[in-house]
Amino acid sequence: MTAPTARDSGALRRRLAAELAAARARTRALTHDVFAGDDPDFTRQHSPLMSPFHWDLAHIANMEDYWLVRRGAPDSDLVAGVREDVDHLYDAFTNPRAGRSALPLLDPAEARVYGDRVREKALEHLEAGSFDERRTLAEGFVFSMIVQHEQQHVETMLATHQLRAGTPVLHADPPPPAVVAGLAGTEVFHPGAEFLMGTSSEAAALDNEKPAHPVRVDDFWLDAAPVTNAEYARFVDAGGYRDRSLWSEAGWDHITAEGWTAPMTWEHVDGRWHRTSFGERQAIDDVGDQPVLHVCFHEAAVYAAWAGKRLPTEVEWEFAARHDHATGTTRRFPWGDEDPTPERANLDQRHLQPAPVGAYPAGASPLGVHQLVGDVWEWCDSGFEGYPGFEPFPYKEYSEVFFGGDFRMLRGSSFGVGTPNARTTFRNWDLPIRRQIFSGFRCARSA
Ligand SMILES: [Fe+2]
Repeated sequence: MTAPTARDSGALRRRLAAELAAARARTRALTHDVFAGDDPDFTRQHSPLMSPFHWDLAHIANMEDYWLVRRGAPDSDLVAGVREDVDHLYDAFTNPRAGRSALPLLDPAEARVYGDRVREKALEHLEAGSFDERRTLAEGFVFSMIVQHEQQHVETMLATHQLRAGTPVLHADPPPPAVVAGLAGTEVFHPGAEFLMGTSSEAAALDNEKPAHPVRVDDFWLDAAPVTNAEYARFVDAGGYRDRSLWSEAGWDHITAEGWTAPMTWEHVDGRWHRTSFGERQAIDDVGDQPVLHVCFHEAAVYAAWAGKRLPTEVEWEFAARHDHATGTTRRFPWGDEDPTPERANLDQRHLQPAPVGAYPAGASPLGVHQLVGDVWEWCDSGFEGYPGFEPFPYKEYSEVFFGGDFRMLRGSSFGVGTPNARTTFRNWDLPIRRQIFSGFRCARSA
């Protein structure tokens, strides 16, 4: 990476400051803007899978303290942090989620003060910084990494809101309607080619997205849109959750033990399927053309098999999202190289739910694959491994310690993902039984 010129540095600083501010506005919208400091919902453990909100809040501050205050100062490798005394409480590795509410955490007001003080110092460092030869600072990387970290926790807090019982507190405009009809279940042929996967040039890319490397992709078919609620309801009603022969042993054992008979939040009431979206019950018939949400990898894989298809691999997914068949080059997004806009993708919790398939024709790939970015994370049938030439950076706990585990990949990004994180090279991973995340899928088929 080369250091930007002085004029570019000014523009880069302004962009990073705006991204830090946008991430913080989203954080507040899910915490202090909706809960009074003494509201028990602020500090309650809403699910053993999730942290209490005030843990996320101070963890966001602590991560920023570590990277931007202590290690982000101009011309100095290490300066004193704002609160090194709380590091042990907000270490995600030593404190599993289910036990976090029992820790002597900062209360919501203290967490907010901590976050504000850290942000003040981080902005001083950003303003005075030279994006010098230290690799963490080149092209503002570590500032961008902290923007993305906060945005990832915003999405996690949004998932906690989804699991929270009680009066709804989040509201948003409905998503735009479909303008392209008839996409559900249709397939797009992708002629095989050699393809440059991953990236060596995106300044914001995290270690597991790098480096760019050639892969050979065979011919395949990919669904033009994610599988919808209406399609998935037909699978449920056809007995998909009762037919043992469709399921892997691990998948069957899990749905049996958990008593799952439909996606998370679905209930059969008065003869119709309903879902609950941030505390509001909605009839599935009314959101039938939206991508199905809150399914685990096993559910996605079984649906695909039932439909005579399979899940795409991670390579196929990225090929569909980036390969330009006309020029043989790899692009940043399905629509080209420009960043996502509200016309191209459903991001930033603008609508608090996925949009109907066909709502974003401006975001489609040249071959006609829709909604690869935004709406729902898409399960892929690939494990988590480093690309050839992988180097851990800036710390091995970001990715490397997860390689080779029992994880499946998710690509794309959901309606809850922040725009700075919505890269088509971004690799998300989770256990195949998890579905509290904003996960859906589309199907593929070998040609
Ligand atoms: Fe974190």
